[in-house]
Amino acid sequence: MEINGHTRLIGLIGNPVEHTLSPVIHNNISKRMGINSVYVPFQVETEGLQDAVKGAYELNVLGMNVTVPHKNDVMESVVAIDDAANAIGAVNTLVRVEELHGYKGYNTDMLGLQRQIREDDVSLRDETVVILGAGGAAKAVVYMCLLEGAKRIYLLNRTLPKAKEIAKGMNEAFATDAVVPMELKSYTQIEEDKVIVFQATSIGLSPNVEQVVLEDKAFYKKVTVGVDLIYNPAETKFMQLVEEAGGKAYNALKMLLYQAVIAYELWHDVKVPKDIIDEVYVELKRRVYKKDNIVLVGFMGSGKTTFGKACAKSLSMEFLDADEYIVKRAGKSIPKIFEEDGEEAFRTLETQILQEFSKNLCNTVLATGGGMPLRKENARLLREIGRVGYLTATPKEIYERVKEDTNRPLLQGENPFGKICDMMKQRKPIYEQVADVIIDTNSNDMEAIVEDMKVHLRL
Ligand code: ATR
Repeated sequence: MEINGHTRLIGLIGNPVEHTLSPVIHNNISKRMGINSVYVPFQVETEGLQDAVKGAYELNVLGMNVTVPHKNDVMESVVAIDDAANAIGAVNTLVRVEELHGYKGYNTDMLGLQRQIREDDVSLRDETVVILGAGGAAKAVVYMCLLEGAKRIYLLNRTLPKAKEIAKGMNEAFATDAVVPMELKSYTQIEEDKVIVFQATSIGLSPNVEQVVLEDKAFYKKVTVGVDLIYNPAETKFMQLVEEAGGKAYNALKMLLYQAVIAYELWHDVKVPKDIIDEVYVELKRRVYKKDNIVLVGFMGSGKTTFGKACAKSLSMEFLDADEYIVKRAGKSIPKIFEEDGEEAFRTLETQILQEFSKNLCNTVLATGGGMPLRKENARLLREIGRVGYLTATPKEIYERVKEDTNRPLLQGENPFGKICDMMKQRKPIYEQVADVIIDTNSNDMEAIVEDMKVHLRL
């Protein structure tokens, strides 16, 4: 998107702000929706918070996110406040309201979590919920659970007075006594045998991945669904314990995404379409879990191996050929797999190895088989593994590169050039759809092509 006289500014106020993922989300949505706005982080000291908000308004800033340590203090700088944000006592989003000459405060963290559990078909209606922790995050969770109609909410915390204070405020706000504060170590007193748990402490956060707030396996037997508000690591110890006991476990990366999407929708008065949300989610995952791989797709002879190897060498990355990996795994050649097991079995094998790669592969340039992105699931996995480059050249150039190769069944019959043309035309849209960038290899200029790959395919 060209920055010009119409560009609107959106951004983040916090301290520190260096590690925020919000620019990745918002700028990606703007790019994909063709909306002329730019998201920038601003480091703001507590003493300057009021001035910053005032200044933002005067600078015609469309909206702001607010993060640690300003989520509470910023409530003094808004001209209106959403009911939920008011009850939670925290604002993470400022929405410009011209009539009021200021910003209205919202809490899209809470709305983001609500959207996440709804999308995952987790219903809280008449359920018993256990919330572990009673910090800022837990407060938004309690509110969301009450909103979603939970029957009882046990709020467990190491420091009981903090749980008591939140329970009192929330019970008053909803005119209920559903929220029950408890000391963490009293968890055995929970009598219900089916509970939905939200893990809202900081225990288990990377790099302390072996830690968990409750270890007792007997507790996890009750858990039907466990949601960890931590998203890094992707699977926390808490989530592992939930799954081992037969429950469903989720991290909160979607909450992070949705809180941003909801803020974006409030600022721009638009609805972000699902396919764009899905795309941004893939990008977000790559960033959070540092999926720094490069994936190359394209027709045979497009240079995936030649240029892929050179690119890997130049970036000190590993190189891996997916077809070779499959041959090793299956113990037979690809034509043999096709002949003996059929194409479906081969594509399933591809899916399996891509699932493995999406978990384990790092710092690798992955060259893929020409047909790999044909299956939708495979295309999605390729995008999870790393940034995807579509290598391409003219049919004539491709023909020149592969015509001597007797290992290519496609080239054996009549009119191989015509076949290449047809197949390239047919696969082009599939490659284009899966790719982050298109790399033209027609020139055969190794240095320039590798440079192109380095510039566009590195995370
Ligand atoms: P946030 O805003 O992310 O919720 P917070 O307000 O600092 O962060 O809250 C952190 C939560 O993790 C609190 O519930 C805290 O318990 P205390 O209120 O007793 O401090 C909980 N927590 C952190 N470390 C803990 C530990 N070692 N054992 C038990 N609870 C812990």
